[in-house]
Amino acid sequence: MAPDAQVFSGGVAVITGAGSGIGAGLARRAGVLGMTVVVADVNHATAKATADAIIAGGGKAEAQSVDVSRPEELDRLAELVFDRHGEVRLLINNAGIETVGYSWEVPAARWEATLNINLHGVIHGVRAFVPRVIASGKEAWIGNLSSVGAFGQMPGQTAYIVTKHAVQAFSECLYLEMELKNLPIHVSAIVPGMMRTNIFNPEHGTDEPGQSQGHRRAMFEMMRDYGMDLDEGCRLFLEQMAQNRFWAHSQPEMSTQIMGARAQFLTGQTLPVMPDLARQIAAD
Ligand SMILES: NC(=O)c1ccc[n+]([C@@H]2O[C@H](COP(=O)([O-])OP(=O)(O)OC[C@H]3O[C@@H](n4cnc5c(N)ncnc54)[C@H](O)[C@@H]3O)[C@@H](O)[C@H]2O)c1
Repeated sequence: MAPDAQVFSGGVAVITGAGSGIGAGLARRAGVLGMTVVVADVNHATAKATADAIIAGGGKAEAQSVDVSRPEELDRLAELVFDRHGEVRLLINNAGIETVGYSWEVPAARWEATLNINLHGVIHGVRAFVPRVIASGKEAWIGNLSSVGAFGQMPGQTAYIVTKHAVQAFSECLYLEMELKNLPIHVSAIVPGMMRTNIFNPEHGTDEPGQSQGHRRAMFEMMRDYGMDLDEGCRLFLEQMAQNRFWAHSQPEMSTQIMGARAQFLTGQTLPVMPDLARQIAAD
């Protein structure tokens, strides 16, 4: 039997940002494997659509409206889930947004939203759920959405890149905290390469600096045309998590290339290296 079919054949999965993209793909996969899926998203309509699709396929799911940028909403979600189900086997802190624009031009509110959703949403997901998971005494798996962007630089996406470097660091420390405390909680950094989602949808960037719209559109079109199929990527993520791997990749070759360049940058202490893609986009 495949490892994910063994490990995730039952129990409760909580997935944030599961109304769309990778979160929705992970929710569908967890539902197919047999888990009861709590589909959490700030957008209730899309969360409900994901939950309805899981139920229509014979699975178990419920939609919950949650804004992960508000710690108290994650506390409320954890309380509700434990009151109703008494356990969480799989927690995936997935909700995230992209932000495009030069560092000094991104409005303060957009900077705050990016940090609060992408970074604080992950931290407070862990803070809200882990004490209850520990108290339940059951084995559990936590996946935090890192990115290949956690290992490189991308001028014009600085706000996003900052949060992904931080989520990666948080996940590494969290892994070690579980080891130090000898807790049966497995932590994974989920590292998507490029998957076909809505994250660069031009409609999501209306409060970004006007001249950054070309960059957003170029990324959106590249992802639409060359991004990996969501269902296959999400199947791979859960398979690797079920094997208790810290690293869960969608496109391992892309991760290896970007991590290798990072290692060279650090060991050589070179100047930051301009990605080819950044030059291409700036030239268009
Ligand atoms: N798509 C990729 O190739 C890729 C690459 C690397 C990392 N990631 C990461 O994967 C995660 C999911 O991204 P995606 O590409 O599926 O994007 P997406 O835009 O398709 O989905 C993101 C979901 O998060 C939800 N969301 C946004 N703000 C929220 C909030 N405050 N509270 C709760 N939910 C909220 C959105 O409503 C949406 O349903 C993100 O953390 C992203 O950084 C994606």
